[in-house]
Amino acid sequence: MTTAADYSEKIPNNVGLHEDRRLQRALESWQPDFLSWWGSMGPALPTQDVYLRTAINVGREGWAHFAHVPMPEYRWGIFLAERDPGRRIGFGEHKGEPAWQKVPGEYRSALQRLIVVQGDTEPASVEQQRNLGATAPSLYDLRNLFQVNVEEGRHLWAMVYLLHAYFGREGREEAAELLRRNSGSADAPRILGAFNEETPDWLSFFMFTYFTDRDGKYQLGTLKESGFDPLSRTCEFMLKEEAHHMFVGTTGVDRVVERAAQLMTEHDTDEVAARGGIPLDVIQKYLNFHYSVSLDLFGGETSTNVANYYTAGLKGRWNEPRRNDDHKLTSESIMVDTLGDDGQIGQAEVAALTGLNTDLRREYIADCQTGVNRWNRILDSAGIEFRLRLPHVAFNRQVGAFAGIEASPSGDILSAEEWERRKGSWLPTDVDKTHVRSLMRPVHERGKIAAWIAPPRNGINGKPFDYEYVHFP
Ligand SMILES: [Fe+2]
Ligand SMILES: [Fe+2]
Repeated sequence: MTTAADYSEKIPNNVGLHEDRRLQRALESWQPDFLSWWGSMGPALPTQDVYLRTAINVGREGWAHFAHVPMPEYRWGIFLAERDPGRRIGFGEHKGEPAWQKVPGEYRSALQRLIVVQGDTEPASVEQQRNLGATAPSLYDLRNLFQVNVEEGRHLWAMVYLLHAYFGREGREEAAELLRRNSGSADAPRILGAFNEETPDWLSFFMFTYFTDRDGKYQLGTLKESGFDPLSRTCEFMLKEEAHHMFVGTTGVDRVVERAAQLMTEHDTDEVAARGGIPLDVIQKYLNFHYSVSLDLFGGETSTNVANYYTAGLKGRWNEPRRNDDHKLTSESIMVDTLGDDGQIGQAEVAALTGLNTDLRREYIADCQTGVNRWNRILDSAGIEFRLRLPHVAFNRQVGAFAGIEASPSGDILSAEEWERRKGSWLPTDVDKTHVRSLMRPVHERGKIAAWIAPPRNGINGKPFDYEYVHFP
């Protein structure tokens, strides 16, 4: 199995696409639809070229190549991690059997659904971020935005390849639908709620890449364990690209917090807004929003569907190989969050299989906390007492056990009236959003940066911050 990408092909790939003419033709007929979608729903800001990385092989080292590329000419392609010929299924009732190279008939519709739901999120985020280029705080940030965008486009290719290659006519129809649905559309919205929200400003973008892309990391992590080997190998490679998206989020929020702290210290004031920064309490509100809508993406606390996916070997747990149990979970249990009959937030013991969403959400929450700790260290070293924090799991939820109640960030249950009265101190208000948007003025000059954000510590690929990451026509 080759790991090098073949760039002489119309569709770059490392899956030997030329050996399957029918599949190649099918994908080549989807390609113009993708490009026209990219033209109408992708980045709106006109550019000449952008300093982008492109995957050249999927090996451990040197998989990326950097160059200035006109974005519509980016070589989107199909890259799967190297095949391990001895790979065996690691969990569920097929544990120990050889991984499947074809879709088992009985799991066809479940696998197709998993791939479609994952695939739907990829172009959705490109659509959500479509207009951000117009207000980029620096060329460095603009380049990072576009890098995320082209890679989400490639992730769409990854899922479309699986649909075309393994799911026949239905798969091809689903691939077409992935371009027909649009984020926020009234008649054909994206499948998951968080992917229909707007990303109207760069603070939202950084929060999105921190919290929502991180949900993607966890979903891909569970699909990487799949018994269906092509899906596993696809997700393994997608996870490598995903790391950069989360880097953009983590360091983006770092820099907003750092700038706020600077302004507070320099002027000895909390009134950062008047000095052109974003106040810490507004950053907290954006965090609250993006974190809570991202928690919803993990689904209900308990789910029989997910239990079935696990037992069937379709979708594993985060870090499945490192779990110290039988990887079947037929006799294990887990405590999940519940809303008791008394209307109070509590915990209940359920079968481990039904509680798998909770298991994954908890892994995610622990990971989210690391960023918050990091941002608080920035505040701490600036001598500022304010601390950011993750709100309670019941806060602002639309999915799962707490969908029907309102709770404060510290987990106190509130009446509907009290929630209405107080939610403006926890979630971004129109005033907050208008203020943040008013700061979003483009800085497209080399080496310059907007006043609401600190410059990054390092540039991209060893280049300095003042490198010409983007050329304009
Ligand atoms: Fe993605
Ligand atoms: Fe991503």
